[in-house]
This record gives sequence, C-alpha cells and structure tokens, in this order.
Amino acid sequence: MSVPKKLFIKTYGCQMNVYDSERMAEALGGKGYVETPTPDDADMILLNTCHIREKAAEKVYSELGRFKRLKAENPDLKIGVAGCVAQAEGQEIMRRQPLVDLVVGPQSYHRLPEMEEKTRAGEKALDTDFPEEDKFEKLRTRPKAARGPTAFLTVQEGCDKFCAFCVVPYTRGAEVSRPADRILTEARDLVERGVREITLLGQNVNAYHGAGSGGDLTLAQLIWELDKVDGLERIRFTTSHPNDMSDDLIEAHGTCSKLMPYLHLPVQSGSDKILKRMNRSHTADSYLRLIERIRAARPDILLSGDFIVGFPEETDEDFQATMDLVPEVGYGYAYSFKYSTRPGTPAAERPQVDEDVKTDRLHRLQALITKQQRAIQDAMVGRTVNVLFEKSGRLQGQMVGKSEYLHSVHVLNPKAGVGDIRPVRIVDSVTNSLAGEAIAQG
Ligand code: 5AD
Ligand code: SF4
Repeated sequence: MSVPKKLFIKTYGCQMNVYDSERMAEALGGKGYVETPTPDDADMILLNTCHIREKAAEKVYSELGRFKRLKAENPDLKIGVAGCVAQAEGQEIMRRQPLVDLVVGPQSYHRLPEMEEKTRAGEKALDTDFPEEDKFEKLRTRPKAARGPTAFLTVQEGCDKFCAFCVVPYTRGAEVSRPADRILTEARDLVERGVREITLLGQNVNAYHGAGSGGDLTLAQLIWELDKVDGLERIRFTTSHPNDMSDDLIEAHGTCSKLMPYLHLPVQSGSDKILKRMNRSHTADSYLRLIERIRAARPDILLSGDFIVGFPEETDEDFQATMDLVPEVGYGYAYSFKYSTRPGTPAAERPQVDEDVKTDRLHRLQALITKQQRAIQDAMVGRTVNVLFEKSGRLQGQMVGKSEYLHSVHVLNPKAGVGDIRPVRIVDSVTNSLAGEAIAQG
C-alpha cells in the first residue's frame, strides 16, 4: 500500500468555506491524501481564503510567504490557494508569489484532483472558471465515515443582489441553487453517519429555487422535504436577505417543528438613505415590519444580524438611526463591521468616512449590541430548553451543546451522550454561555 500523502487545509471566513474545505479534503482523499493538523509535514497546503474582510489578499500573501522555508525543506510540497481571494486575484497570485502551484476558484473544486496531478507533473494549475456543472455532485463523498451531530450543507451559492459594498457577486458569481434530490440524498447520508442537525448554507439561502420533481422548490418547500427525513431532528439555514423572506418560509417558522427558532437576517444599516446607497432595496421600516410578521409566526424566535458602520456618506444622524433600530429588533446576536473598500465594488470609488469616526461608531454599536445580547441570554435563566449535546466540557462529567436558540449550554452529568437531545433547565448565564441542569425524565 502506498503511504498516504498529507494535506493541510487552512480555512478562513464563512461556514460555506468550512463546507467547501471538507469537500476538497474528500476530493483529494481519492488521490491518497489524509488531512494533517499542521503545515510542517504536509505534502500539500491549501489556503481556503475569504475576501469579505479588509486587506484579505494582503493577508494571504503574507501567510504564503511563511511557507517559503517549508518549500525549501521539501521541494515536493505543493501549495494551493482556493476560495474568494483565489477567484478575485487569479493568475496574479502565482505572479506575486511564485511558490504557489495551484489557484482554484470556488466553482471549480471538483477539478482539484486533475489540478493536483498537473502540479505533481511540475506544472502550475489555475482554474477560476464558472462552469455549468454542479461541483458538489462531481465531488467524491467520503465512504460512510461517522461524524459529529451537526453539519453544514450548501444548497445555494452566489448572489445577484449586488449590495454596493460586497464582493460576493464577483467572487462567487451568479446565484445558483442545487437540485433538491441531491440535497436530500446528501442529508440522508449525513443522518446515517450520525448527524442530527443540518444547517443549510447559501450566500443568499432564502432565494433558493432548486429543481424538484414537480418544478422548482422554494427554501420552505425544501425544508418540508427535509422534515420528512427520519433521524434528522433540527434544521437551520443561513444567510438570508430580508427581501427573500417569502410567506411560506415565515409560515414554516411557525409550523415546522424541526426548523429551529433562530434567524440570521442582516439589515446592515438603520438609515434609509444609507440602505439606498447600499443598494439593499429594503427600508428600515420594511425590515421592522418583516420582523413583526416573523415574530407573529414564531414569537420566541431569536434574531441575529449584521451591521456595517461608516459606509460612504453615513452621517451622525444616519448612524443614530442604526443605533435606534437595534433595540427595536432585540438581537440575540449581531455582528458589526467598519466599512472597508473592496476593489471593483461601487462603494469603493466613493468618498470615504474618516477612520476615527468609523472606529468610534463601531465601539458604540458593539457596546449596545453586547448589552442587548447579554440581556437576551440572561433572560433564558429559569427556562427549559432542548440541548443537542456536541462534546464533553472542560469539567469532569460535563457536556456541552446548543439550545434551539443556538446558545451554548453546559450541563454536569446530563446522562446523555454526544448526539442526544435532552430538556435542560437553565440555571445561570455567564459570558458566552449558559449553565443548565438535566431534567429528570421519568
Ligand atoms: N465592509 C465591511 N463589512 C462588509 N460585509 C460585507 N462586505 C463588507 C465590506 N466591504 C459584512 C456585511 C455582511 C457580512 C458577511 O460582512 O455585514 O453581511
Ligand atoms: Fe453580498 Fe449578501 Fe448583498 Fe449578496 S445579499 S451582495 S452576498 S451582502
């Protein structure tokens, strides 16, 4: 038997990249690679990059520079760049950093095995196409290996919304939905391997419109199909755009018991002027009315959001509108960012807000969000939640899992194993997690 080659993958950014990295490891598994936790002994290093954060490309170049020594020690080491920076930079990566052997964009991962062969033959391999075929269908799936109780499943990729700050429509391309039968097959396979909770992923997941046997399915219809999968207990999805929260999806939040009461629904700003400049095509008011309808369907739903501060032309008044929106919604989680330019996006060309002003606004917004987040978490004390246990905790006999609201909950001696779902009474709220007590079942 040949000695397995070692693959080190470093993943940056969103959950879609985590999912993609798993698929890439599986594809290269077919070429005799096994994953290694360190780059030091690797035969191939892959950086699965993200272009959302500031200076993403620069960070990738500096990370690559650090592999020079490894390549000198092991001339057979192959180095690849995948993900959104690969898509955005393309050939430029190999020009600026000649030690890179392979550059692959997010739509071409199924071509990785051939690309790897090319690099072993001493050639460079570059693929940043947007091919027609479903890359996930072409990617090898690992033989029935057991896995943890939660998994991501990409159902949709790309985006046609073109928010003025965002690179996704350029790096991930146009919106494409995977056919429903493939998603269902993958879901059943995951459940057979021990998965109890699946998070459906897509940059614009609620715009899902994949082919089904009787025509296209909406995300809600796909969720109802998944609801029928025996052994699958929990369904989540992320990330949604407010304008694609269709009636059937809102209704599913009230009627589908496997769909968890948690929704990530970015608003980005509370100012209508800024929302317009962002090309968001919703207003603060239409967002709030939408939240009202979602809460009418599922009163206990926990909401999370994304915000950008310091977008071009944002005045103190515009920022105040964002600060005013936060308490109106009541976010259980929220992520906030300073606007930073992405070359090629419309807002990058506009006059920019002063960096100190951005920093000040970010601190104020984050302080408000943290307070609200903590208040919502604290309000769980005394309530009973269902916890899906994921792993052992730091203390002897302690288990850690997630409630339906995605709060992290730790329980001493829950008489439950990994993958079990148990009712738990919340007794304390600490930084970033809740303490619970198992409820005796009789
Ligand atoms: N600057 C700051 N934040 C950004 N995001 C996306 N692009 C930018 C940018 N250019 C944020 C948005 C999005 C989240 C994933 O990242 O809030 O919802
Ligand atoms: Fe980017 Fe989301 Fe806007 Fe699409 S909807 S352009 S992914 S922020």
